[in-house]
Amino acid sequence: MSNTERTFIMIKPDGVHRGIVGEIIKRFEQKGYKLVAMKFMQASVEHLEKHYADLAKKPFFPGLVKYMASGPVVAMVWEGLNAVKTGRVMLGETNPADSKPGTIRGDFYVQVGRNICHGSDAVESAEKEIALWFKPEELVNWTTVQAPWIYE
Ligand code: RTP
Ligand code: MG
Repeated sequence: MSNTERTFIMIKPDGVHRGIVGEIIKRFEQKGYKLVAMKFMQASVEHLEKHYADLAKKPFFPGLVKYMASGPVVAMVWEGLNAVKTGRVMLGETNPADSKPGTIRGDFYVQVGRNICHGSDAVESAEKEIALWFKPEELVNWTTVQAPWIYE
């Protein structure tokens, strides 16, 4: 495990419309993760089809892509110890009924197809997603002064 593990977190169009962009960013900041990249953008259908390519055969795929392309998203890279797994815990579960209060999904959504925020599900998919959404030069190389107070 390394302090430089990175995860791709994306606030979906419903998260933007419902005004919880700041709330989601706040949770990753206060946890102790380091922001490495962020952009507010309208993603194209083609781009979203690539992002969710593993789900292309699922019956909900066309609706998923339509929803994701229906408005702007906030794409981010967060870095830190166990960022992928812990990021998923902070996000909550795919099934709304299993998402515990205190998680992003548990606090803000009730239906699977409007679930506010995406998080990478494995280190390998995080690397793929970061490369799909960001150019290497968009990943900022910096050291936070908080580091010695977050890591022993
Ligand atoms: P995400 O990739 O967006 O973080 O979501 P996830 O890992 O929790 O779930 P995943 O299986 O990757 O599914 C991607 C998105 O597809 C929609 N979905 N709908 N109707 C359904 O049964 C269903 N299942 C999944 C959700 O919007 C989910 O986030
Ligand atoms: Mg997923």
